[in-house]
Amino acid sequence: MKPQDPPKTYRVKSFGCQMNVYDGERMGELLDARGLTPAADGEDADLVVLNTCHIREKAAEKIYSDIGRLTKGKTQAKAPMIAVAGCVAQAEGEEIMKRAPAVSMVVGPQAYHRLPEMLDRAAKGERATDTDMPAIAKFDSLPERRLPSGEGEGGAGARRNRFPTAFLTVQEGCDKFCTYCVVPYTRGAEISRPFADLVHEARRLVERGAREITLLGQNVNAWAGADAKGHTIGLDGLIRGLAKLPELLRIRYTTSHPNDFTEGLVRCHAEVEKLMPYLHLPVQSGSDRVLKAMNRQHTTAGYLRLLEQMRAARPDIALSGDFIVGFPGETEAEFEATLSLVDEVGYAQAYSFKYSPRPGTPAAAMDRQIAPEVMDERLQRLQARINRDQIAFNAASVGKVCDVLVERRGKFAGQWLGKSPWLQSVWFVDEAGGGLDGGGVAIGDMVRARMVEAGGNSVRGELIGAGEAVTVR
Ligand code: 5AD
Ligand code: SF4
Repeated sequence: MKPQDPPKTYRVKSFGCQMNVYDGERMGELLDARGLTPAADGEDADLVVLNTCHIREKAAEKIYSDIGRLTKGKTQAKAPMIAVAGCVAQAEGEEIMKRAPAVSMVVGPQAYHRLPEMLDRAAKGERATDTDMPAIAKFDSLPERRLPSGEGEGGAGARRNRFPTAFLTVQEGCDKFCTYCVVPYTRGAEISRPFADLVHEARRLVERGAREITLLGQNVNAWAGADAKGHTIGLDGLIRGLAKLPELLRIRYTTSHPNDFTEGLVRCHAEVEKLMPYLHLPVQSGSDRVLKAMNRQHTTAGYLRLLEQMRAARPDIALSGDFIVGFPGETEAEFEATLSLVDEVGYAQAYSFKYSPRPGTPAAAMDRQIAPEVMDERLQRLQARINRDQIAFNAASVGKVCDVLVERRGKFAGQWLGKSPWLQSVWFVDEAGGGLDGGGVAIGDMVRARMVEAGGNSVRGELIGAGEAVTVR
């Protein structure tokens, strides 16, 4: 590879989970600290970081087509510098380097703090791969969370509220080794970031306008640490600690494993007002035989007991889950057990996927892989049930009054979009605000609304006391 001009602009494209979104933001901040600037919308960037996901299907193939698109018809001098990051980089770094000569850098999810050094090497024409796994070292060497450019420390003024929701990775990696999953291989062993670092980072996020923080981890409820007094605490202690930040109004967390749930965390849902009444708790299957083959280490009964405890602690809690259909050997009766579980729980929202064999995982080598058409058919049936319940959940909200955290403008004048405590998208019109740039509501406000009309994916709200002081900041 020839030496390349050092890039001036960059674009980070993140695929997959929220943890990748968080990593993508941090990579952007690293590049900002190096003096690069984000490429303007619609303009080519000098450096493109493809922050990839390996959890399902042809994610790797997608990278090669993206690389093809970025380099098509361009000489090396004209093509952008390309870095492949994320879980595909971790799992298939060497292969990417071999197959895609246009790629200058391959950097795993635990090594992206070294991106600046790699950039220097790439500018000299050296190709570099870094897929080490020093997770804590990464967090220690990332720069401070920055306030958006142009804002001073303390960030006063109207622009403060542009980032009302933020992600904060508190835990990474997984020791569970579900037999279908690549995460333990791509993200490595479970690690928890220290309490003090998290409080510090949360404070920075709040300073730049965050009113809601979602704590992220592959197994977020396995988070463990020590508080300021040196007492051992779990995720519940972390939540209680963060709830003390006065300007932080909402806390969420995802994703949890049923076996790492503690009584303390259940109690948190009853006692900590800032902790939102929403729980994403994947179960994957409603059949105990399939759960065993998946090495989930819990039963459907254990899962349902946990949900009962949750509902006792927080009766209005909205439940969400993940499901896999077509795991090797799944029979029609076993799939129907999943449908029954869905019926029994009544999810507010849920995600379902066709099983996808991941190279190197035990399930990929299992007998009785399920035919694609069977998987398609099962997925459709499962999604129909889930949609039915989601519509029912939204319909049951009609008439309720709740706080809505305003996240962005809608498509038409005076329209705003935000989230209810139950993570529903709520839209409303601020008539008193007088259209697009009138006063009234602003991004980052917490407004009170009555939910008046339910759709499948959103709910229409009406401001309460519109025209008066509607914000509950
Ligand atoms: N195939 C299909 N779905 C998967 N998931 C994880 N691994 C696979 C796989 N190999 C799903 C699980 C998990 C979610 C993040 O992705 O449902 O909870
Ligand atoms: Fe993957 Fe299972 Fe770990 Fe979740 S708990 S990240 S599904 S191995």
